[in-house]
Amino acid sequence: MSQVLVASNRGPVSFSLSDDGALTMRRGGGGLVSGLAAVTGGPGRPAREPSADVLWVCAALGEADRAAVRQAPDGRLDEAGHDTGGAAVRMLDIPAATFHRAYNAVANSTLWFVHHLLYDTPRAPHFDARSRRDWQSYEAYNAAFADALARDAAQGAKAAIQDYHLSLAPRMLRDRRPDLKIVHFSHTPWAPPEYYRLLPDDIGAQVLEGILGADHAGFLTERWAMAFLDCCERFLSGVRVDRAARTVTCGGHVTQIGVHGLGIDGESLRRRAAEPDVAARAEALRGQVGDRKLIVRVDRTELSKNIVRGLAAYREMLTNHPEWHGRVVHLAFAYPSRHDLPEYREYTAAVQRMAGQIIDEFGTPDWEPLILQVNDDFPRSLAAYGMADVLLVNPIRDGMNLVAKEGPVLSERGSALVLSREAGAASELAADALIVNPYDVSQTAETLHQALLMPEDERAERCARLAAAATALPPQQWFGDQLAALD
Ligand code: G6P
Repeated sequence: MSQVLVASNRGPVSFSLSDDGALTMRRGGGGLVSGLAAVTGGPGRPAREPSADVLWVCAALGEADRAAVRQAPDGRLDEAGHDTGGAAVRMLDIPAATFHRAYNAVANSTLWFVHHLLYDTPRAPHFDARSRRDWQSYEAYNAAFADALARDAAQGAKAAIQDYHLSLAPRMLRDRRPDLKIVHFSHTPWAPPEYYRLLPDDIGAQVLEGILGADHAGFLTERWAMAFLDCCERFLSGVRVDRAARTVTCGGHVTQIGVHGLGIDGESLRRRAAEPDVAARAEALRGQVGDRKLIVRVDRTELSKNIVRGLAAYREMLTNHPEWHGRVVHLAFAYPSRHDLPEYREYTAAVQRMAGQIIDEFGTPDWEPLILQVNDDFPRSLAAYGMADVLLVNPIRDGMNLVAKEGPVLSERGSALVLSREAGAASELAADALIVNPYDVSQTAETLHQALLMPEDERAERCARLAAAATALPPQQWFGDQLAALD
């Protein structure tokens, strides 16, 4: 029985199977896992002060994870001898078809698209009988989490339920265990009502009511919290939204709305970056880049990250400012993500096509203008942050974006940050970042040029202030504030 439980789709570890059937463990990626692993621990990154008695409940994401669960007593990976960095982890073996529909069809193809405004006309949503079946799987998947949490929670325990995969679980858990204190946290933006209304009415209402089963609903920025309140007001009948008190009352239950920005644990990130594997990657990169200026980006290959427009901006900069030819390199790390979805596979191909065009157009025997890397390599990302002159973070829309915070913390010479105004991080970093409209490729191109020209002392001063802002709300505080809000 645990006093504090965390629930998220992706846990701190996942597994792959090698040809000989052996299981290899790796760290989970993305902002949610980075933030939570700093609190609970994770492989290769033990928590600074491991929180006693936190149980992390997550889903098996594929066949290799399922194999690992089957070998672990009751899904407890830490008890099965896996190095989870001190975290107590229970992985749920949800039937593969249910998981696939809940994760791919509902969470990632529908809710993620709605919150990130990713639909376009040719790909407008199409809700039919099959979507109903997908939705039932999403309900079953949420119920599996609610059951596990209800079973593992001590009397009066606190449960912190994460993200859009688990929007129904708070209410389901309250029904099962009214004694618990429940927080739900959204790591994504929240859609404005005009976009949220794309969802079928009953599904849109169930998502809102599901989250309102929590005692506290947390968001990364004021903007996303306000959008949630707007949707509650617009789409739920019989609720009372009190904007001054920041509460929503639904069926007699009061949910407090909170804003909890998520930042970086600067000390442990710097410690990780000081390890020899990072130095080795830095040396290899230095060999490729030489003494040229360096523009870096680090993303999952994700539609909302706007990588194609970012590359187009680099191309336009090279076209408009030929003085940079031979003097700058763009390192673009675009790690694989959600490849079960055709949109993501097509997007990966589009990124590769655009990169190929830039290399063909500008490359010379002695100058590689762009290096695109698609294999996930965390130490190499840390090495690139250290070396960057400019860090480009240009999402169409993003809950927070931790790359914009990690980069300045690890920058060795002070890097300039070109940042989309649509990233949650912009609400904290706007004073010292160079802010762009992510759709405006020409503006982004010109801003990259200005960033490269920024005098070194100005760059260093801005970067120091960015690093201070990025570490102002470390994950420990982000999580602690949410738990405290339940008291
Ligand atoms: C975002 C979401 C997280 C998710 C991460 C990686 O940060 O908010 O919930 O874990 O992306 O996506 P994935 O689908 O690979 O878990």
